[in-house]
Amino acid sequence: MEQYVIKGGNPLVGEVEIGGAKNAALAILAAGIMTDDTVVIENIPDVKDINVLIQAIEGIGAKVDRRDRHTVAINGANIDALNVDNEYIKKIRASYYLLGALLGKYKKASVPLPGGCNIGSRPIDQHLKGFRALGADVKIEHGYVIAEAKSLKGSHIYLDVVTVGATINIMMAASLAQGNTIIENAAKEPHVVDAANFLNSMGANIKGAGTDVIRIKGVQSLHRTEYSIIPDQIEAGTFMFAAAATKGDVTVKNVIPKHLEATTAKLIEIGCEVEEFDDAVRVVSSKGLHHTHVKTLPYPGFPTDMQPQIAVALALSSGTSIVTESIFENRFKYVDELARMGANIKVEGNTAIINGVERFTGAHVNAPDLRAGAALVIAGLAAEGITVVDDVHYVERGYECFEEKLKSLGAQMEKVSGEKEIQKFRLKIG
Ligand code: EPZ
Repeated sequence: MEQYVIKGGNPLVGEVEIGGAKNAALAILAAGIMTDDTVVIENIPDVKDINVLIQAIEGIGAKVDRRDRHTVAINGANIDALNVDNEYIKKIRASYYLLGALLGKYKKASVPLPGGCNIGSRPIDQHLKGFRALGADVKIEHGYVIAEAKSLKGSHIYLDVVTVGATINIMMAASLAQGNTIIENAAKEPHVVDAANFLNSMGANIKGAGTDVIRIKGVQSLHRTEYSIIPDQIEAGTFMFAAAATKGDVTVKNVIPKHLEATTAKLIEIGCEVEEFDDAVRVVSSKGLHHTHVKTLPYPGFPTDMQPQIAVALALSSGTSIVTESIFENRFKYVDELARMGANIKVEGNTAIINGVERFTGAHVNAPDLRAGAALVIAGLAAEGITVVDDVHYVERGYECFEEKLKSLGAQMEKVSGEKEIQKFRLKIG
């Protein structure tokens, strides 16, 4: 099992290039099979979740040509299986995007019901509600979601919950339905917009993505495209909070500042200086941080995927802060790990009450999930002494070259596995 060993105390200083958005790329890769032409997708992040989904796409018979780490060509003409293998969905929930893509194109799909994960139960009832509204017969048998339709007809769908996954999945299926579909109470995340733009570049007719009402006019078929994924606002925000927590000065490059507005607003609130450029944002944290309140909300609110990262910065701020997690029911599992580093946080239901402390001290901690793992790395970078973060495979699901990028900003850390390598690191850094 691989770990990060970190010697904390160095402010992070410098510039870091942000990669393509994982959560946009997962949806867009799935949508790429909806034509018999070849689609070329650029700026995909080279992370585990992406690579697993590409394997799943190959697994159903699509032709995949990985041109380089960040570019893939997909041709869905010879797809010969409409059921996605369980091993893929077990590894990544986002395989469920193949449901909407296969149902839209072939009017039939079967995908294992994605399990819950460490941050909550993660139901897909709204996805199924949308498919049924489009005329599909959807049943759950032996752990599989089986969706089938003679034809798909446009419908007026009102989502009971603002859900990124269901918004995108329904948008995909509706793109090749007959007639018009309206999705009300749609998610507005940048990756929903990116998925809509990708589908439109293939000849779909989608309007309103980025608002809470999306209108889709079904088309007969979709065609080839070349498309580049938007930058990852969550990767960018993670480095921005790492700058804040380590009293650093970091510029995140190749970003869309508009997508970072909620993150930027909170960084300013807690005492950082933030400077925006066309495709970069600079975060300087020279004074002490101070407390604030934050509630995670669907976009454009403060993103749930940034909740563990801001909590680490608040745990090192003066005063008492309140973090409310309104999207997932179990996204505070990192709090016990942070307590081992000296954090003073009390979780009551979906709220964390954070009493800031002067400093963290290094400890041996476990990453409970992807974003919490990244947050624990930030804590280790800010802590005095040595921190070991276990289970970094979680972090590598969503962050490409995480330790290399942090080391380029001055972090003293290595990826290791086992006590011997940890001792070697300790000796090396003295
Ligand atoms: C996407 O998950 C992201 N994953 C998550 O990022 C992100 O946290 C989440 O959106 C919210 O922004 C991908 O894009 C692959 P949802 P998704 O459907 O689509 C409830 C990361 O760290 N809900 O927007 O699964 C659900 O329980 C990951 O990169 C239903 O009730 O999230 C949750 O409370 C973690 N029924 C809320 O909606 C449904 O049918 C939002 O979920 C679907 C969702």
